Amino acid sequence: MTQATPTRRSFLRSVSGATAALAIPISVFAESQSTTRSSDKPLRWGVIGTGHRGSIHIGAIKNSPDDSELLAVCDVMENHLADGAKRAGPSVQTYTDYQKLLANADINAVLIATPNLLHKEIVLDALEAGKHVMCEKPMAISIDECKAMTSAAEKRPDQVVLYTMQLRYSPRYQELRKHIDAGKIGKPKHILMAEFRGDWNRGDVWQYDDPKQGKVNWRFSHAASGGTLNEKVCHYFDILHWMAGALPTRVSCAGGTAVYKDGRDTWDHATTTLVYPDGCIATHSLCMFGPKRLDLQVIGDERSISVGDMSLVLESQGTKTPLHLPEEIIHGQQGARGEETAVAKMYEDFADCVKNNKKPWMDAEKAMASSKTAWLGELSSDQKREVKWEELG
Ligand SMILES: NC(=O)c1ccc[n+]([C@@H]2O[C@H](COP(=O)([O-])OP(=O)(O)OC[C@H]3O[C@@H](n4cnc5c(N)ncnc54)[C@H](O)[C@@H]3O)[C@@H](O)[C@H]2O)c1
Repeated sequence: MTQATPTRRSFLRSVSGATAALAIPISVFAESQSTTRSSDKPLRWGVIGTGHRGSIHIGAIKNSPDDSELLAVCDVMENHLADGAKRAGPSVQTYTDYQKLLANADINAVLIATPNLLHKEIVLDALEAGKHVMCEKPMAISIDECKAMTSAAEKRPDQVVLYTMQLRYSPRYQELRKHIDAGKIGKPKHILMAEFRGDWNRGDVWQYDDPKQGKVNWRFSHAASGGTLNEKVCHYFDILHWMAGALPTRVSCAGGTAVYKDGRDTWDHATTTLVYPDGCIATHSLCMFGPKRLDLQVIGDERSISVGDMSLVLESQGTKTPLHLPEEIIHGQQGARGEETAVAKMYEDFADCVKNNKKPWMDAEKAMASSKTAWLGELSSDQKREVKWEELG
């Protein structure tokens, strides 16, 4: 086990205490100790960004099978770092400067869960430091950043890089794709996805100093998030590409801020239409102020298949046949923090890629394509015209 000094021990005891955590100035203790590696596990993680999503990753790493160990956490917000340290357990090192975490030679893999505008810088630094990298979606906030990240990773083929669009690992979407591959619906021709949800988390999130808005929830700033389609819909653009079996050739979109007129420059609703080769069309509808709804229907030239919260159904001329919906702990489900099935499978893939020097199923190419779709959607909406895939990058 890590040998910590009495000072560090007393700090860690205090962050695990329910009341005292926020009273302890982390900066006094952070970065002041060196960690001794406690094992030779293949993956020795440092988590950068211990806010909402980072804390889920801390749980996922701790729940990973024998191949992983969590050595350090890093955040610039005192309370988020204290929460992360508490969740990570008493033997982790804490940092407020991610460069110092990267300089810790015992760590060989980093999970990056900072706001989107920091992804590029931290991914490049982590690659430079020789670490394997798992970075939260979306990949970045511009196509140029995505390209720079891709080319940096290509120069380091021995380091695994995965962008965490975990729905690619979700058993329900994998099952759906399996039925399509098996020819159950014929060729996909028409796809419809509804993603209705509430507004962004307005709670204790990192504040971005936006040039126009001042300090603001980073998701309300296009400069910090890369826009709502990039931040939110990147997951589902990727799913649509996967179900269509191709990338779109043309994109049209209408989006804007219809309800949350609080100064933000990010959208609260949008409808995007994607035209794929071979006559397949997909429509994604995002609404952040409607009743909750999340479902996907893929209609082929023979039958249709749809997946919702509770069901997977094959439909032909009005006859509905329920199909097996694989058991899965999904995001938002009670007790799911750090235990989502898709996230666990993503970590398994990552470990397998490190062990066998493979490329992950969720790679940079797919991540960049989904962000590119988002930005083409914005371009289409801004210019009120259909845009071609080649128009960006
Ligand atoms: N895959 C998913 O389903 C999913 C879900 C939610 C969020 N996310 C992604 O996770 C990322 C974080 O989102 P969140 O909801 O956790 O936001 P958040 O604001 O709750 O957390 C971000 C954390 O990063 C920290 N941070 C900022 N600058 C830093 C720096 N220089 N060094 C270290 N830490 C720093 C902040 O202090 C904050 O604690 C985003 O990219 C978001 O898109 C993904």
